[in-house]
Amino acid sequence: MLDKRNELNAWDRDHFFHPSTHMGMHARGETPTRVIGGGEGVYITDINGKKSLDAFAGLYCVNVGYGRQKIADAIAEQAKNLAYYHAYVGHGTEASITLSKMIIDRAPKGMSRVYFGLSGSDANETNIKLIWYYNNILGRPEKKKIISRWRGYHGSGVMTGSLTGLELFHKAFDLPRDPILHTEAPYFFRRADRSMNEEQFAQYCADKLEEMILAEGPETVAAFIGEPILGTGGIVPPPKAYWQKIQAVLDKYDILLVADEVVTGFGRLGTMFGADYYGMKPDLITIAKGLTSAYAPLSGSIVSDKMWQVLVQGSDQLGAIGHGWTYSAHPICAAAGIANLELIDELGIVENAGSTGAYFRSELAKAVGEHKHVGEVRGDGLMAAVEFVEDRDDRKFFDHAKKIGPQVAAALLERGVIGRAMPQGDILGFAPPLCLTRDEADIVVRATADAIRSVFSNL
Ligand SMILES: Cc1ncc(COP(=O)(O)O)c(C=O)c1O
Repeated sequence: MLDKRNELNAWDRDHFFHPSTHMGMHARGETPTRVIGGGEGVYITDINGKKSLDAFAGLYCVNVGYGRQKIADAIAEQAKNLAYYHAYVGHGTEASITLSKMIIDRAPKGMSRVYFGLSGSDANETNIKLIWYYNNILGRPEKKKIISRWRGYHGSGVMTGSLTGLELFHKAFDLPRDPILHTEAPYFFRRADRSMNEEQFAQYCADKLEEMILAEGPETVAAFIGEPILGTGGIVPPPKAYWQKIQAVLDKYDILLVADEVVTGFGRLGTMFGADYYGMKPDLITIAKGLTSAYAPLSGSIVSDKMWQVLVQGSDQLGAIGHGWTYSAHPICAAAGIANLELIDELGIVENAGSTGAYFRSELAKAVGEHKHVGEVRGDGLMAAVEFVEDRDDRKFFDHAKKIGPQVAAALLERGVIGRAMPQGDILGFAPPLCLTRDEADIVVRATADAIRSVFSNL
């Protein structure tokens, strides 16, 4: 085994181009490679036998936990019976049709159809095209701009990387591209004017959005996209009444709303969708991760009835829609999706995310919230973040070069728990599998408190 491990390490450094990785340091062997060999429940094990409690569910996606036999069996069965058939020109499989029905049954009111892709990025790419198509069919070819938010995360393709509002994903890629614009991040803790309360700040965000729409010309603005709760941008719940205030502006100027529920879809906040949790009224919903709990790659754009009616007119005018991927509605992935959604219901996963999430966040706040370098403990459902500051009273942030967030994440890993150092700011994020128990939540909280103590006592 030792030989094999050494061989894997060498092959990894020489041949594997990793996403979101420092290419030089990895290739030179300056950063550790971790080869994961197995997973069970909320734990993963690497090939050296080290077990870690994965309190980020991979990339907030393994919602039902690792090692679920039911999903593995469904995948194997589908692969044996029919590994593939396409979905072009009206073709379907029992799995893809059944899953569409299951998604619409669970979606917020007013949703009509699901277009399947493979990743959150490609689903948002589909959304952009549908938005443009919709306005062309309605005879408004100038209404094409899409407003996203700073710190939003919507993928890393050309257009979806443009929607993403994080510097790292733009730098040296010539992004963002037209016609994508970014407005204020709904990040209460980092608001510039600290005299504002949450609701005033939410109003400020809505006013900034309206200002941008008026400056651009409402006849040129097609859509607004947002995650119900900011994810990769720092795990930041919206300020109170934010979505109601944003929705009012969008309605006033006939602007579509895309709820990017790649992280929140299928239970993460303790409701089936984040739109239900915050009272959003989306025209399109992006889904991915939790749809299959990442047992197979599958995403979707859920299209509202309002948009669907216009898309149908489009086909009547122009013929078949010129959009499709070879692997749209792949039956193996769809079979994984069906088994996963059934499991979510059988295990009461959504309710558990709500109740264990509330417990976890309150225990976390009790354990670390008063630490002099913790500025805020926040979250909703089973998403939580601890944001570190140099000085609490002045809300002074650390110099990013000190890498406080990554240091705490590394100390946490040494204690057997995986959290995520979020990419912008010194923020430790948690999004554990939704089957987390209270005992497992306690393990995460104890390890986090200990990791924070150790990092700051060494500073
Ligand atoms: C909200 C959101 N949208 C889209 C994406 C992109 O999904 P993918 O990485 O599957 O392309 C992500 C990924 O983390 C996400 O968090």
